[in-house]
Amino acid sequence: MQPAGVMSGPIPENKDQSMSTYVKGLEGIIAAQTEMSFIDGQKGILEYVGIPIGELSEKSTFEETVFLLWNKRLPTQAELDKFTSDLRSRYKLPEGMPERIRSLPRTAQPMHVLRTQISALGMYDPDPNANLVEAAREKALNILGYTPTIVAEFDRMRRGLEVVPPDPSLSFAENFLYMLNGEKPTPTMARAFDICMILHADHGLNNSTFTARVIISTLSDVYSAITGAIGSLRGPLHGGANEGVMKMLNEIPSVDAVEDYILGKLERKEKVMGFGHRVYKTRDPRATALKSLAKQLASDTGNEELYIKSRRIEEVMEREVGAKGIYPNVDFYSATTYHCIGLKLDLFTPMFAMSRLGGWSGHIIEQLADNRLYRPKAEYIGPHNAPYVPIDQR
Ligand code: ACO
Repeated sequence: MQPAGVMSGPIPENKDQSMSTYVKGLEGIIAAQTEMSFIDGQKGILEYVGIPIGELSEKSTFEETVFLLWNKRLPTQAELDKFTSDLRSRYKLPEGMPERIRSLPRTAQPMHVLRTQISALGMYDPDPNANLVEAAREKALNILGYTPTIVAEFDRMRRGLEVVPPDPSLSFAENFLYMLNGEKPTPTMARAFDICMILHADHGLNNSTFTARVIISTLSDVYSAITGAIGSLRGPLHGGANEGVMKMLNEIPSVDAVEDYILGKLERKEKVMGFGHRVYKTRDPRATALKSLAKQLASDTGNEELYIKSRRIEEVMEREVGAKGIYPNVDFYSATTYHCIGLKLDLFTPMFAMSRLGGWSGHIIEQLADNRLYRPKAEYIGPHNAPYVPIDQR
């Protein structure tokens, strides 16, 4: 006799499943609406709230860009001043947090530190679960203000250096480099870093942004959503690729060795980090902006060889796989740029996270303003009606 619920005979068609199509990696599936960034992957266009990324990287600041993403319009001068001053008043970490950072192992990886400390911030918030849009904005602003301080304090602690307190008279970019290095950056360095922050701030429903939206859609909390997004970003197929690019550049001994190195990788069917994109099948406009930044900084800091090596990699890749639509992505030239700014390799991905907080938070706000729980389906491809074999007979 069959136990209740177990079917015998042919398996009936599952109408519920047959109505949907399985798309591996959700490629091309529209899973959210946004007013933040527009991407045309065929034409290589990226706009934030309709403004081309090239315009923003040339004329805007990171603070103004975040305001734009969160409010879907550019601020007036008074609004920008207020937003900037609100952000600066959050550079200093809540009481207890610096001690937590000092207690971390010096060998910890900065992305693990960042993920853990952002999660911990929820414990310092007297009302961590407040999820109305206004409350979420406040929390997002707190996280944005605190994050550079968390990264800089950890980095100095692990180097055995005194912590440099934040300076609220400085911009987001200047203050971070100041806390990290103990001296104010040159205007060129600060501006270069600010441009990197603008370029990485938002990018449609990328994996980490999707993660943030999925988490907040359960009406969880902003800290959990951002913590999950950081976990997603660090993967080598996503934001972690910028570290992979730098490792590759270090591994290639000279410009002359580039050709054999890349051909070898392609022959072994290995991915070349910093190339290819799920959406762009032509040049990523962020890579174009970063390329000129990398060129300038490499020449200013005596790192020409690094830039020339990168150019050579790009040439070989274009010749070999350009026809497949594989071009440099945002991570490729950001590696040279960050190196020239003086950032250590394991800080590259935290820089990406610092900037992408603008996008993640904006998406969390959008999701909360018009929420519906994310709950897709899995297509079951296992057996049916299987016997339960007693453990002593398996
Ligand atoms: N190097 C060499 N070949 C590549 C690369 C690459 N970087 N990227 C894609 N290809 C090839 C694939 O081997 C495949 O070739 P085939 O059709 O002959 O089998 C074809 O291009 C399609 O590649 P997919 O992996 O199917 O494309 P997908 O859209 O899934 O990949 C991804 C996008 C994951 C970013 C991929 O290009 C990759 O792994 N790149 C390297 C990692 C990287 O730079 N990630 C950062 C992306 S940007 C960001 O997240 C911020």
